[in-house]
Amino acid sequence: MNEINLDLIDTTGEPPVTEPERQYYYMAKCREIISEKIREKQRPLYCQTRTFGCQMNAKDSEKLTGILKQIGYTEITQEDTIEPDFILYNTCTVRENANLKVYGHLGYLKKQKQRHPDMLIALCGCMMQEETVVEKIKKSYPFVDLIFGTYNIYQLAELIYERLTTKKNVIEILQASKDIVEELPIERKFSFKSGVNIMFGCDNYCSYCIVPYVRGRERSRKPEDIIKEIKKLVADGVVEIMLLGQNVNSYGKNLEQPVSFARLLEMVEEIDGLERIRFMTSHPKDLSEELIAVMKKSKKICRHLHLPLQSGSSHILKTMNRHYDKEKYIALAEKIRREIPDVSLTTDIIVGFPGETEEDFLDTLDVVKRIRYDSAYTFIYSKRTGTPAARMANQVPEEVVKDRFNRLLKEVQTISAEQTMKNVGKTFEVLVEDINEHDSSLVTGRMSNNSTVHFKGNQSLIGKIVNVRLDEAKGFYYMGTMEEE
Ligand code: 5AD
Ligand code: SF4
Repeated sequence: MNEINLDLIDTTGEPPVTEPERQYYYMAKCREIISEKIREKQRPLYCQTRTFGCQMNAKDSEKLTGILKQIGYTEITQEDTIEPDFILYNTCTVRENANLKVYGHLGYLKKQKQRHPDMLIALCGCMMQEETVVEKIKKSYPFVDLIFGTYNIYQLAELIYERLTTKKNVIEILQASKDIVEELPIERKFSFKSGVNIMFGCDNYCSYCIVPYVRGRERSRKPEDIIKEIKKLVADGVVEIMLLGQNVNSYGKNLEQPVSFARLLEMVEEIDGLERIRFMTSHPKDLSEELIAVMKKSKKICRHLHLPLQSGSSHILKTMNRHYDKEKYIALAEKIRREIPDVSLTTDIIVGFPGETEEDFLDTLDVVKRIRYDSAYTFIYSKRTGTPAARMANQVPEEVVKDRFNRLLKEVQTISAEQTMKNVGKTFEVLVEDINEHDSSLVTGRMSNNSTVHFKGNQSLIGKIVNVRLDEAKGFYYMGTMEEE
């Protein structure tokens, strides 16, 4: 899609009504205005995108940056000292902390805009789907030029055009998605790996989670569209893809011709030139035998499963609306470890869900000790207005939650360090991702099981898969040595 030629688009008539043609039209229109500004200022116009939250948001940001570059902006990163002409925050609202960070940044942006009044400030993403947030921004941060939601990503050019031509702030929040718009420009962060959306939204309604309210009902992309996109990426040099969805295990159930996630994986596996397949996130309630079998025999699916536990207490899991209990989860995790012994299992855990007793918490610790996660993300429960859990009685006092959180973290870290030790001395295939942040004589790569390893190397290795011997475990990463072929 990066090859779209805006010069061929007729911008003299009315905008087309069909997508993506309508957006190409607005991209061409915006490009005319931006090139005019570039001529006036006699310098490039700079854009910067800042992303909070998960892989879904990271993927959306690549789409947004793709559009910004098409219309004539030059991308700069956070490390650049130049002030951007267009700054876009792609926000997350899964926990309150994520929201607070955005408000903090807005305070800073206010000053930046006073110095640089031409600057455009845009906010999008999950947080913008909440009415109270939009009200607060309108009232307290009126200098924000553009606000749009998770269903409006594809419309960025149209919204910028409206802002530039009407000079009024633009707020556009669709409450539900129309069709999935394919074939938009995209600016990939890495040349050799890429996320690929396979579905949007979530229908699970876990009682603590705001995602179904901000990302909407579950919609799967057609397998042919997914395969076409991956083939194009591979032709463009991508060797690793990450299939993205809030709950990939329920992929394809609502398609006209239903396809299981395991079957989709088999189709993706057949793509020549693709070396590695990852996916995120799996819900334990829908993880099928078929998926385990497909992973087991696959040469390309990475040896990593992220299987959010959330809580080890059957009683809490019930009020969380997770549709599995402690025993069922343990049986599933043990089966996966048995069938795919080299798999690394990671998880998400929430501490302090309403009504959580010490006994419930001990159940969580018990699962952690039995499953021995290779790594775990631990979160303090955050009350999200509008979710069923926010209305539950028995919210747990802060000191109790903090104490449990610290105990859990200690356990998780100890186990994770012990798990990492097991692989020292062995050799693994590693996809080299980057020059090491702290020492430029080293490169950083990722193993199939998602662990990272640092070793001597240079730029020419980036994007290649090489064999690396793990010399030393450092908690959650390794130091290693590349082996000659
Ligand atoms: N409070 C704390 N953690 C949450 N998560 C989702 N909602 C909340 C909440 N209200 C965590 C879950 C999920 C991860 C992405 O974020 O563990 O798996
Ligand atoms: Fe991702 Fe959830 Fe945050 Fe939205 S709210 S960006 S889906 S983590």
